[in-house]
Amino acid sequence: MPKTGFLGFGRLIGGFQANKAERGPQYVVETLDKVMGEDVHTCIVPIHDYELIVTRDPRNVQVVLANNATDWDVSEHRAASWEPMIGHGIFTSRGKDWSKSRAQVRPLFKKQQIHDLDLYERHVQQLFTAIDKRFSDDSQPGWTTPFDLLPLCYNLALDVVTEVIYGRSVHSQTPAARKSFPTVTGLESPERIDIGTHVDAGKLWIEKRGALWKYRWLLPTRAFYKHCAAIHKYADWFVTLRLQAKDKYLEALDETGTASKDRYVFLNELATVTNDPIELRSQTLNVFVAGRDTTASLIGWIIYFLARHPGVLAKLRGEVVGQFGPYIPDHGSDIEFKELRGTYLHAVINEVLRFAPVVPLNERVSVCDTVLPRGGGPDGEKPIFVPQGTQILLPIYALARRKDLWGPDADEFRPERWVEGGGRKTGFEFVPFGGGVRQCMGQEFARIMAAYVIVRLLQRYDHIDNAEIPPDAPMKFHLTIENRSGSGVQVRLHEA
Ligand code: HEM
Repeated sequence: MPKTGFLGFGRLIGGFQANKAERGPQYVVETLDKVMGEDVHTCIVPIHDYELIVTRDPRNVQVVLANNATDWDVSEHRAASWEPMIGHGIFTSRGKDWSKSRAQVRPLFKKQQIHDLDLYERHVQQLFTAIDKRFSDDSQPGWTTPFDLLPLCYNLALDVVTEVIYGRSVHSQTPAARKSFPTVTGLESPERIDIGTHVDAGKLWIEKRGALWKYRWLLPTRAFYKHCAAIHKYADWFVTLRLQAKDKYLEALDETGTASKDRYVFLNELATVTNDPIELRSQTLNVFVAGRDTTASLIGWIIYFLARHPGVLAKLRGEVVGQFGPYIPDHGSDIEFKELRGTYLHAVINEVLRFAPVVPLNERVSVCDTVLPRGGGPDGEKPIFVPQGTQILLPIYALARRKDLWGPDADEFRPERWVEGGGRKTGFEFVPFGGGVRQCMGQEFARIMAAYVIVRLLQRYDHIDNAEIPPDAPMKFHLTIENRSGSGVQVRLHEA
Protein backbone atom coordinates (compact mmCIF):
# COMPACT_ATOMS: atom_id res chain seq x y z
CA MET A 1 0.00 0.00 0.00
CA PRO A 2 1.50 3.40 -0.87
CA LYS A 3 2.48 5.84 1.88
CA THR A 4 0.19 8.86 2.11
CA GLY A 5 -0.13 12.21 3.86
CA PHE A 6 2.28 14.54 5.57
CA LEU A 7 5.47 12.63 6.53
CA GLY A 8 3.63 9.40 5.73
CA PHE A 9 1.10 9.70 8.58
CA GLY A 10 -1.85 9.64 6.15
CA ARG A 11 -3.23 6.19 6.98
CA LEU A 12 -2.89 6.76 10.72
CA ILE A 13 -4.76 10.06 10.46
CA GLY A 14 -7.34 8.46 8.13
CA GLY A 15 -7.96 5.81 10.80
CA PHE A 16 -8.34 8.45 13.50
CA GLN A 17 -10.79 10.44 11.41
CA ALA A 18 -12.82 7.33 10.60
CA ASN A 19 -12.99 6.42 14.29
CA LYS A 20 -14.13 9.94 15.08
CA ALA A 21 -16.83 9.61 12.43
CA GLU A 22 -17.75 6.27 14.09
CA ARG A 23 -16.97 4.20 11.01
CA GLY A 24 -13.53 2.83 11.81
CA PRO A 25 -14.25 -0.80 10.82
CA GLN A 26 -15.79 0.24 7.50
CA TYR A 27 -12.74 2.44 6.79
CA VAL A 28 -10.46 -0.60 6.92
CA VAL A 29 -12.59 -2.51 4.38
CA GLU A 30 -13.00 0.51 2.11
CA THR A 31 -9.28 1.32 2.16
CA LEU A 32 -8.27 -2.28 1.42
CA ASP A 33 -10.84 -2.57 -1.38
CA LYS A 34 -10.07 0.80 -2.92
CA VAL A 35 -6.29 0.89 -2.66
CA MET A 36 -5.45 -2.81 -3.00
CA GLY A 37 -8.55 -4.38 -4.59
CA GLU A 38 -11.36 -6.57 -3.28
CA ASP A 39 -9.37 -9.74 -3.87
CA VAL A 40 -6.25 -8.58 -2.02
CA HIS A 41 -6.42 -9.68 1.57
CA THR A 42 -2.95 -9.07 2.98
CA CYS A 43 -0.89 -5.93 2.62
CA ILE A 44 1.91 -3.91 4.13
CA VAL A 45 0.92 -0.45 5.33
CA PRO A 46 3.81 2.02 5.63
CA ILE A 47 3.37 4.72 8.27
CA HIS A 48 6.06 7.38 8.63
CA ASP A 49 9.08 5.29 9.75
CA TYR A 50 7.51 1.87 10.33
CA GLU A 51 5.40 -0.70 8.54
CA LEU A 52 2.56 -2.84 9.72
CA ILE A 53 0.83 -5.78 8.12
CA VAL A 54 -2.94 -5.90 7.74
CA THR A 55 -4.48 -9.26 6.86
CA ARG A 56 -8.07 -10.36 6.37
CA ASP A 57 -6.94 -13.79 5.20
CA PRO A 58 -8.24 -16.51 7.58
CA ARG A 59 -5.22 -18.69 6.89
CA ASN A 60 -2.84 -16.01 8.06
CA VAL A 61 -5.07 -15.28 11.05
CA GLN A 62 -4.98 -18.95 12.01
CA VAL A 63 -1.21 -19.08 11.81
CA VAL A 64 -0.78 -15.93 13.90
CA LEU A 65 -3.30 -16.81 16.62
CA ALA A 66 -2.99 -20.58 16.72
CA ASN A 67 -0.67 -22.68 14.57
CA ASN A 68 2.41 -20.52 14.93
CA ALA A 69 1.38 -18.57 18.02
CA THR A 70 4.82 -18.88 19.63
CA ASP A 71 6.24 -16.61 16.89
CA TRP A 72 3.75 -13.92 17.83
CA ASP A 73 2.65 -12.17 21.00
CA VAL A 74 0.52 -9.20 21.93
CA SER A 75 2.55 -6.04 21.39
CA GLU A 76 4.24 -4.21 24.24
CA HIS A 77 2.04 -1.24 23.28
CA ARG A 78 -0.93 -3.09 24.75
CA ALA A 79 0.78 -3.22 28.11
CA ALA A 80 2.08 0.34 27.81
CA SER A 81 -1.40 1.67 27.07
CA TRP A 82 -3.42 -0.43 29.50
CA GLU A 83 -1.20 -1.04 32.50
CA PRO A 84 -1.54 2.38 34.14
CA MET A 85 -5.24 1.55 34.49
CA ILE A 86 -5.51 -2.20 34.99
CA GLY A 87 -1.96 -3.25 35.82
CA HIS A 88 -0.06 -6.33 34.71
CA GLY A 89 -2.48 -9.24 34.26
CA ILE A 90 -3.93 -11.76 31.87
CA PHE A 91 -4.87 -9.25 29.20
CA THR A 92 -1.68 -7.18 29.23
CA SER A 93 1.02 -9.76 29.93
CA ARG A 94 3.18 -11.74 27.54
CA GLY A 95 5.16 -14.98 27.60
CA LYS A 96 5.56 -16.77 30.95
CA ASP A 97 3.68 -14.08 32.90
CA TRP A 98 0.72 -14.60 30.62
CA SER A 99 0.78 -18.42 31.09
CA LYS A 100 0.74 -17.92 34.87
CA SER A 101 -2.13 -15.42 34.58
CA ARG A 102 -4.15 -17.75 32.40
CA ALA A 103 -3.85 -20.53 35.00
CA GLN A 104 -4.89 -18.12 37.79
CA VAL A 105 -7.91 -16.82 35.92
CA ARG A 106 -9.21 -20.12 34.52
CA PRO A 107 -11.27 -21.21 37.58
CA LEU A 108 -13.55 -18.19 37.11
CA PHE A 109 -14.99 -19.82 34.05
CA LYS A 110 -16.15 -23.06 35.61
CA LYS A 111 -19.44 -24.24 34.22
CA GLN A 112 -21.54 -23.76 37.34
CA GLN A 113 -20.25 -20.21 37.68
CA ILE A 114 -21.16 -19.26 34.12
CA HIS A 115 -24.59 -20.85 34.46
CA ASP A 116 -25.50 -18.97 37.65
CA LEU A 117 -28.83 -17.88 36.19
CA ASP A 118 -29.99 -16.74 39.58
CA LEU A 119 -27.33 -14.05 39.48
CA TYR A 120 -28.40 -12.86 36.03
CA GLU A 121 -32.07 -12.96 37.05
CA ARG A 122 -31.54 -10.65 40.01
CA HIS A 123 -29.89 -8.06 37.81
CA VAL A 124 -32.37 -8.51 34.94
CA GLN A 125 -35.14 -7.71 37.43
CA GLN A 126 -33.32 -4.45 38.15
CA LEU A 127 -33.14 -3.82 34.41
CA PHE A 128 -36.91 -4.28 34.22
CA THR A 129 -37.34 -1.82 37.09
CA ALA A 130 -35.32 0.70 35.09
CA ILE A 131 -37.38 -0.01 31.95
CA ASP A 132 -40.64 0.32 33.92
CA LYS A 133 -39.74 3.98 34.50
CA ARG A 134 -40.14 4.49 30.73
CA PHE A 135 -43.87 3.84 30.82
CA SER A 136 -45.65 7.16 31.18
CA ASP A 137 -49.04 8.76 30.76
CA ASP A 138 -47.81 10.21 27.46
CA SER A 139 -46.98 6.84 25.93
CA GLN A 140 -49.44 4.61 24.06
CA PRO A 141 -51.08 1.89 26.20
CA GLY A 142 -48.64 -0.95 26.82
CA TRP A 143 -45.73 0.92 25.20
CA THR A 144 -42.78 2.65 26.78
CA THR A 145 -41.81 6.08 25.54
CA PRO A 146 -38.83 6.01 23.16
CA PHE A 147 -35.55 5.74 25.06
CA ASP A 148 -31.95 4.62 24.74
CA LEU A 149 -31.58 1.10 26.11
CA LEU A 150 -27.80 0.96 25.65
CA PRO A 151 -26.75 2.69 28.91
CA LEU A 152 -29.04 0.26 30.75
CA CYS A 153 -27.17 -2.66 29.16
CA TYR A 154 -23.88 -1.21 30.41
CA ASN A 155 -25.30 -0.80 33.90
CA LEU A 156 -26.60 -4.36 33.88
CA ALA A 157 -23.23 -5.80 32.86
CA LEU A 158 -21.41 -3.61 35.37
CA ASP A 159 -23.65 -4.88 38.15
CA VAL A 160 -23.18 -8.54 37.21
CA VAL A 161 -19.44 -8.37 36.64
CA THR A 162 -18.66 -6.47 39.87
CA GLU A 163 -20.66 -9.05 41.81
CA VAL A 164 -18.80 -11.95 40.17
CA ILE A 165 -15.37 -10.39 40.56
CA TYR A 166 -15.54 -8.68 43.96
CA GLY A 167 -18.61 -10.25 45.56
CA ARG A 168 -20.57 -6.98 45.82
CA SER A 169 -22.46 -5.49 42.93
CA VAL A 170 -22.15 -1.72 42.43
CA HIS A 171 -25.93 -1.69 41.81
CA SER A 172 -25.65 1.02 39.20
CA GLN A 173 -29.17 0.12 38.04
CA THR A 174 -30.81 0.60 41.41
CA PRO A 175 -28.60 2.63 43.75
CA ALA A 176 -31.26 2.20 46.46
CA ALA A 177 -30.26 -1.48 46.63
CA ARG A 178 -26.75 -0.52 47.78
CA LYS A 179 -25.90 -1.52 51.30
CA SER A 180 -23.24 0.37 53.18
CA PHE A 181 -19.80 -1.15 53.14
CA PRO A 182 -18.28 -2.71 56.23
CA THR A 183 -15.33 -0.87 57.77
CA VAL A 184 -11.89 -1.65 56.47
CA THR A 185 -9.12 -0.46 58.76
CA GLY A 186 -7.25 2.44 57.22
CA LEU A 187 -9.45 2.85 54.12
CA GLU A 188 -12.45 4.96 53.12
CA SER A 189 -15.35 3.13 51.47
CA PRO A 190 -14.86 3.02 47.71
CA GLU A 191 -16.84 5.29 45.42
CA ARG A 192 -19.41 3.21 43.57
CA ILE A 193 -21.39 5.84 41.73
CA ASP A 194 -18.87 6.70 39.07
CA ILE A 195 -16.87 3.54 38.63
CA GLY A 196 -18.39 2.86 35.19
CA THR A 197 -17.69 6.44 34.12
CA HIS A 198 -14.04 6.21 35.18
CA VAL A 199 -13.62 2.97 33.23
CA ASP A 200 -15.27 4.49 30.13
CA ALA A 201 -13.15 7.64 30.25
CA GLY A 202 -9.96 5.67 30.84
CA LYS A 203 -10.68 3.35 27.92
CA LEU A 204 -11.32 6.22 25.56
CA TRP A 205 -7.87 7.52 26.35
CA ILE A 206 -6.32 4.05 25.96
CA GLU A 207 -7.97 3.69 22.57
CA LYS A 208 -6.33 6.91 21.36
CA ARG A 209 -3.04 5.95 22.90
CA GLY A 210 -3.10 2.51 21.26
CA ALA A 211 -3.89 4.01 17.85
CA LEU A 212 -0.91 6.36 18.15
CA TRP A 213 1.23 3.28 18.77
CA LYS A 214 4.87 4.36 19.15
CA TYR A 215 3.83 8.02 19.21
CA ARG A 216 1.60 7.49 22.23
CA TRP A 217 3.73 9.84 24.36
CA LEU A 218 2.10 12.69 22.41
CA LEU A 219 -1.07 12.35 24.50
CA PRO A 220 -1.28 14.22 27.80
CA THR A 221 -1.76 11.90 30.79
CA ARG A 222 -3.13 13.93 33.73
CA ALA A 223 -6.85 13.30 33.31
CA PHE A 224 -6.18 9.65 32.50
CA TYR A 225 -4.23 9.09 35.70
CA LYS A 226 -7.06 10.60 37.73
CA HIS A 227 -9.44 7.97 36.33
CA CYS A 228 -6.85 5.24 37.00
CA ALA A 229 -6.51 6.36 40.62
CA ALA A 230 -10.30 6.18 41.15
CA ILE A 231 -10.44 2.68 39.64
CA HIS A 232 -7.52 1.50 41.80
CA LYS A 233 -9.12 2.91 44.92
CA TYR A 234 -12.26 0.93 44.16
CA ALA A 235 -10.42 -2.38 43.60
CA ASP A 236 -8.00 -1.83 46.48
CA TRP A 237 -10.80 -1.59 49.00
CA PHE A 238 -11.99 -5.12 48.17
CA VAL A 239 -8.44 -6.43 48.02
CA THR A 240 -7.64 -4.97 51.44
CA LEU A 241 -10.81 -6.41 52.94
CA ARG A 242 -9.95 -9.82 51.49
CA LEU A 243 -6.43 -9.70 52.88
CA GLN A 244 -7.67 -8.58 56.30
CA ALA A 245 -10.66 -10.92 56.55
CA LYS A 246 -8.87 -13.88 54.93
CA ASP A 247 -11.25 -16.80 54.38
CA LYS A 248 -14.04 -14.88 56.17
CA TYR A 249 -14.17 -12.44 53.23
CA LEU A 250 -17.68 -13.32 52.07
CA GLU A 251 -19.08 -13.03 55.58
CA ALA A 252 -17.22 -9.74 56.12
CA LEU A 253 -18.54 -8.39 52.84
CA ASP A 254 -22.08 -9.34 53.62
CA GLU A 255 -22.92 -7.69 56.90
CA THR A 256 -26.16 -9.68 57.14
CA GLY A 257 -24.04 -12.80 57.44
CA THR A 258 -26.21 -14.69 55.00
CA ALA A 259 -23.69 -14.99 52.16
CA SER A 260 -23.37 -18.51 50.90
CA LYS A 261 -19.97 -19.99 51.59
CA ASP A 262 -20.15 -21.78 48.25
CA ARG A 263 -20.55 -18.60 46.28
CA TYR A 264 -17.76 -18.20 43.77
CA VAL A 265 -16.16 -14.77 43.91
CA PHE A 266 -13.13 -14.31 41.70
CA LEU A 267 -11.11 -12.16 44.10
CA ASN A 268 -11.84 -14.53 46.97
CA GLU A 269 -10.51 -17.51 45.02
CA LEU A 270 -7.57 -15.66 43.54
CA ALA A 271 -6.41 -14.74 47.02
CA THR A 272 -5.93 -18.44 47.76
CA VAL A 273 -3.07 -18.51 45.23
CA THR A 274 -1.54 -15.07 45.79
CA ASN A 275 -1.65 -12.50 48.55
CA ASP A 276 0.17 -9.80 46.63
CA PRO A 277 -2.21 -6.82 46.71
CA ILE A 278 -0.99 -5.41 43.39
CA GLU A 279 -1.42 -8.75 41.68
CA LEU A 280 -4.92 -9.12 43.15
CA ARG A 281 -5.87 -5.63 42.01
CA SER A 282 -4.41 -6.08 38.52
CA GLN A 283 -5.79 -9.50 37.76
CA THR A 284 -9.30 -8.59 38.90
CA LEU A 285 -9.25 -5.35 36.90
CA ASN A 286 -7.97 -7.17 33.81
CA VAL A 287 -10.98 -9.49 33.92
CA PHE A 288 -13.31 -6.60 34.77
CA VAL A 289 -12.42 -4.62 31.62
CA ALA A 290 -12.31 -7.73 29.42
CA GLY A 291 -15.77 -8.77 30.51
CA ARG A 292 -18.03 -5.86 31.32
CA ASP A 293 -18.20 -3.60 28.29
CA THR A 294 -17.87 -6.36 25.73
CA THR A 295 -20.92 -8.20 27.07
CA ALA A 296 -22.90 -4.97 27.45
CA SER A 297 -22.13 -3.96 23.89
CA LEU A 298 -23.16 -7.40 22.58
CA ILE A 299 -26.53 -7.25 24.38
CA GLY A 300 -27.02 -3.72 23.06
CA TRP A 301 -26.28 -4.74 19.46
CA ILE A 302 -28.66 -7.73 19.67
CA ILE A 303 -31.53 -5.45 20.68
CA TYR A 304 -30.45 -2.89 18.06
CA PHE A 305 -30.80 -5.47 15.28
CA LEU A 306 -34.01 -7.04 16.62
CA ALA A 307 -35.59 -3.58 16.55
CA ARG A 308 -34.63 -3.21 12.88
CA HIS A 309 -35.64 -6.70 11.79
CA PRO A 310 -39.22 -7.43 12.92
CA GLY A 311 -39.22 -10.79 11.10
CA VAL A 312 -36.16 -11.94 13.05
CA LEU A 313 -37.70 -10.64 16.29
CA ALA A 314 -40.98 -12.49 15.70
CA LYS A 315 -39.20 -15.74 14.85
CA LEU A 316 -36.88 -15.49 17.83
CA ARG A 317 -39.69 -14.61 20.22
CA GLY A 318 -41.65 -17.60 18.91
CA GLU A 319 -38.70 -19.86 19.74
CA VAL A 320 -38.18 -18.29 23.17
CA VAL A 321 -41.80 -18.49 24.28
CA GLY A 322 -42.17 -21.97 22.74
CA GLN A 323 -39.14 -23.27 24.59
CA PHE A 324 -39.24 -21.37 27.88
CA GLY A 325 -42.87 -20.25 28.16
CA PRO A 326 -44.30 -16.78 28.77
CA TYR A 327 -42.96 -14.32 31.30
CA ILE A 328 -43.43 -15.29 34.93
CA PRO A 329 -41.68 -12.84 37.27
CA ASP A 330 -40.10 -15.27 39.71
CA HIS A 331 -39.37 -18.13 37.38
CA GLY A 332 -36.36 -16.85 35.47
CA SER A 333 -33.74 -19.13 36.90
CA ASP A 334 -35.79 -22.19 35.86
CA ILE A 335 -34.58 -21.62 32.32
CA GLU A 336 -32.13 -24.26 31.29
CA PHE A 337 -29.69 -23.80 28.44
CA LYS A 338 -28.86 -27.39 27.61
CA GLU A 339 -27.34 -26.43 24.31
CA LEU A 340 -27.48 -23.00 22.73
CA ARG A 341 -25.90 -24.25 19.52
CA GLY A 342 -28.44 -25.08 16.84
CA THR A 343 -31.07 -22.70 18.23
CA TYR A 344 -32.23 -19.59 16.44
CA LEU A 345 -31.06 -17.59 19.46
CA HIS A 346 -27.54 -18.88 18.87
CA ALA A 347 -27.85 -17.93 15.20
CA VAL A 348 -28.94 -14.40 16.10
CA ILE A 349 -26.06 -13.96 18.55
CA ASN A 350 -23.55 -15.21 15.98
CA GLU A 351 -24.94 -12.99 13.25
CA VAL A 352 -24.69 -9.97 15.56
CA LEU A 353 -21.08 -10.88 16.36
CA ARG A 354 -20.35 -11.21 12.64
CA PHE A 355 -22.16 -8.09 11.54
CA ALA A 356 -21.05 -5.80 14.37
CA PRO A 357 -18.09 -7.49 16.06
CA VAL A 358 -17.71 -6.15 19.56
CA VAL A 359 -13.92 -6.32 19.22
CA PRO A 360 -13.38 -5.18 15.62
CA LEU A 361 -9.59 -5.33 15.55
CA ASN A 362 -7.01 -7.64 17.08
CA GLU A 363 -3.25 -7.30 17.00
CA ARG A 364 0.02 -9.14 17.47
CA VAL A 365 3.72 -8.52 16.98
CA SER A 366 6.27 -11.02 15.68
CA VAL A 367 8.72 -11.99 18.43
CA CYS A 368 11.16 -13.56 15.94
CA ASP A 369 11.67 -13.63 12.18
CA THR A 370 8.79 -15.65 10.83
CA VAL A 371 6.57 -16.35 7.83
CA LEU A 372 2.93 -15.80 6.92
CA PRO A 373 1.65 -18.56 4.64
CA ARG A 374 -0.17 -16.31 2.17
CA GLY A 375 -0.15 -12.84 0.67
CA GLY A 376 3.12 -12.80 -1.30
CA GLY A 377 3.93 -13.23 -5.01
CA PRO A 378 2.02 -11.84 -7.98
CA ASP A 379 -1.12 -13.85 -7.15
CA GLY A 380 -0.92 -13.35 -3.35
CA GLU A 381 -0.67 -17.12 -2.84
CA LYS A 382 2.99 -17.23 -1.77
CA PRO A 383 4.33 -16.95 1.79
CA ILE A 384 5.62 -13.64 3.13
CA PHE A 385 8.75 -13.19 5.22
CA VAL A 386 8.03 -11.20 8.39
CA PRO A 387 10.97 -9.72 10.32
CA GLN A 388 10.98 -9.77 14.13
CA GLY A 389 9.17 -6.80 15.66
CA THR A 390 6.55 -6.39 12.93
CA GLN A 391 3.08 -5.43 14.06
CA ILE A 392 0.13 -7.17 12.45
CA LEU A 393 -3.49 -6.02 12.55
CA LEU A 394 -6.27 -8.60 12.26
CA PRO A 395 -9.42 -6.71 11.22
CA ILE A 396 -12.18 -8.99 12.54
CA TYR A 397 -14.90 -6.91 10.91
CA ALA A 398 -13.24 -7.06 7.48
CA LEU A 399 -12.86 -10.86 7.73
CA ALA A 400 -16.54 -11.22 8.48
CA ARG A 401 -17.62 -9.10 5.50
CA ARG A 402 -15.75 -10.95 2.74
CA LYS A 403 -18.29 -11.92 0.09
CA ASP A 404 -16.14 -14.75 -1.22
CA LEU A 405 -16.27 -16.36 2.25
CA TRP A 406 -19.75 -15.39 3.42
CA GLY A 407 -21.69 -15.14 0.17
CA PRO A 408 -23.01 -12.21 -1.86
CA ASP A 409 -25.31 -11.23 1.02
CA ALA A 410 -22.39 -10.74 3.43
CA ASP A 411 -23.50 -7.12 3.95
CA GLU A 412 -26.99 -8.20 5.03
CA PHE A 413 -27.99 -9.05 8.58
CA ARG A 414 -29.39 -12.56 8.12
CA PRO A 415 -29.23 -14.99 11.09
CA GLU A 416 -30.59 -17.79 8.88
CA ARG A 417 -27.12 -18.24 7.40
CA TRP A 418 -26.11 -19.89 10.68
CA VAL A 419 -28.79 -22.60 10.59
CA GLU A 420 -29.16 -23.34 6.89
CA GLY A 421 -27.79 -26.62 5.60
CA GLY A 422 -27.40 -28.12 9.06
CA GLY A 423 -25.55 -25.11 10.50
CA ARG A 424 -22.56 -23.16 9.32
CA LYS A 425 -19.15 -24.39 10.44
CA THR A 426 -16.67 -21.62 10.93
CA GLY A 427 -12.94 -21.30 10.93
CA PHE A 428 -10.70 -18.31 11.32
CA GLU A 429 -12.94 -16.08 9.19
CA PHE A 430 -15.13 -15.78 12.30
CA VAL A 431 -13.04 -14.82 15.31
CA PRO A 432 -15.10 -12.38 17.39
CA PHE A 433 -13.59 -13.95 20.52
CA GLY A 434 -10.10 -14.26 19.07
CA GLY A 435 -8.68 -17.73 18.58
CA GLY A 436 -5.85 -20.09 19.47
CA VAL A 437 -3.94 -19.86 22.72
CA ARG A 438 -5.24 -16.45 23.81
CA GLN A 439 -8.83 -17.05 22.86
CA CYS A 440 -11.35 -15.21 25.02
CA MET A 441 -11.88 -17.02 28.31
CA GLY A 442 -15.25 -15.39 28.83
CA GLN A 443 -16.87 -16.47 25.57
CA GLU A 444 -19.35 -18.85 27.16
CA PHE A 445 -20.01 -16.48 30.04
CA ALA A 446 -20.85 -13.68 27.57
CA ARG A 447 -22.99 -15.91 25.36
CA ILE A 448 -24.99 -17.36 28.26
CA MET A 449 -25.51 -14.02 29.92
CA ALA A 450 -26.57 -12.37 26.62
CA ALA A 451 -28.86 -15.32 25.84
CA TYR A 452 -30.43 -15.15 29.29
CA VAL A 453 -31.07 -11.40 29.09
CA ILE A 454 -32.61 -11.71 25.63
CA VAL A 455 -34.84 -14.63 26.68
CA ARG A 456 -36.20 -12.69 29.66
CA LEU A 457 -36.61 -9.51 27.62
CA LEU A 458 -38.55 -11.30 24.87
CA GLN A 459 -40.71 -13.13 27.38
CA ARG A 460 -41.70 -9.82 28.92
CA TYR A 461 -41.90 -7.60 25.79
CA ASP A 462 -43.48 -8.76 22.56
CA HIS A 463 -42.53 -5.81 20.37
CA ILE A 464 -39.37 -3.78 20.09
CA ASP A 465 -39.78 -0.74 17.88
CA ASN A 466 -36.83 1.03 16.34
CA ALA A 467 -37.09 4.62 17.62
CA GLU A 468 -33.96 6.01 15.98
CA ILE A 469 -34.47 9.18 13.96
CA PRO A 470 -34.23 8.74 11.03
CA PRO A 471 -35.03 5.02 11.37
CA ASP A 472 -32.66 4.04 8.55
CA ALA A 473 -29.66 6.02 9.85
CA PRO A 474 -26.40 4.19 9.05
CA MET A 475 -24.79 2.05 11.73
CA LYS A 476 -22.25 3.88 13.84
CA PHE A 477 -19.40 2.05 15.50
CA HIS A 478 -18.41 3.95 18.59
CA LEU A 479 -15.02 2.60 19.43
CA THR A 480 -13.84 2.58 23.03
CA ILE A 481 -11.77 -0.59 22.58
CA GLU A 482 -15.02 -2.47 22.18
CA ASN A 483 -17.47 -1.38 19.51
CA ARG A 484 -20.80 -0.11 20.74
CA SER A 485 -23.59 1.43 18.72
CA GLY A 486 -22.71 5.10 18.28
CA SER A 487 -26.36 6.12 18.10
CA GLY A 488 -27.28 4.03 21.14
CA VAL A 489 -30.16 1.57 21.07
CA GLN A 490 -33.15 3.84 20.60
CA VAL A 491 -36.29 1.75 21.11
CA ARG A 492 -39.87 1.55 22.34
CA LEU A 493 -40.92 -1.67 24.06
CA HIS A 494 -44.39 -3.18 24.28
CA GLU A 495 -45.25 -5.28 27.29
CA ALA A 496 -46.63 -8.70 26.41
C1 HEM B 1 -19.16 -10.35 23.71
C2 HEM B 1 -18.31 -10.49 24.68
C3 HEM B 1 -16.84 -10.67 24.51
C4 HEM B 1 -16.05 -10.53 23.39
C5 HEM B 1 -16.48 -10.15 21.97
C6 HEM B 1 -14.70 -10.81 23.79
C7 HEM B 1 -13.63 -10.79 22.93
C8 HEM B 1 -12.34 -11.14 23.28
C9 HEM B 1 -11.24 -11.22 22.37
C10 HEM B 1 -11.29 -10.91 20.89
C11 HEM B 1 -10.17 -11.63 23.08
C12 HEM B 1 -8.80 -11.98 22.53
C13 HEM B 1 -7.82 -10.86 22.59
C14 HEM B 1 -6.52 -11.28 21.92
O1 HEM B 1 -6.50 -12.16 21.06
O2 HEM B 1 -5.50 -10.71 22.23
C15 HEM B 1 -10.57 -11.77 24.46
C16 HEM B 1 -9.76 -12.13 25.49
C17 HEM B 1 -10.16 -12.26 26.80
N1 HEM B 1 -11.44 -12.17 27.27
FE1 HEM B 1 -13.08 -11.74 26.19
N2 HEM B 1 -14.68 -11.11 25.12
C18 HEM B 1 -15.97 -11.04 25.61
C19 HEM B 1 -16.39 -11.29 26.90
C20 HEM B 1 -15.58 -11.63 27.93
C21 HEM B 1 -16.03 -11.86 29.30
C22 HEM B 1 -17.47 -11.78 29.77
C23 HEM B 1 -14.92 -12.12 30.04
C24 HEM B 1 -14.79 -12.39 31.50
C25 HEM B 1 -15.70 -12.23 32.41
C26 HEM B 1 -13.78 -12.10 29.13
C27 HEM B 1 -12.50 -12.37 29.49
C28 HEM B 1 -11.43 -12.40 28.63
C29 HEM B 1 -10.07 -12.64 29.05
C30 HEM B 1 -9.62 -12.93 30.48
C31 HEM B 1 -9.26 -12.56 27.90
C32 HEM B 1 -7.76 -12.68 27.83
C33 HEM B 1 -7.37 -14.05 27.34
C34 HEM B 1 -5.86 -14.16 27.18
O3 HEM B 1 -5.18 -13.19 26.81
O4 HEM B 1 -5.36 -15.26 27.42
N3 HEM B 1 -14.22 -11.80 27.87
N4 HEM B 1 -11.91 -11.48 24.56
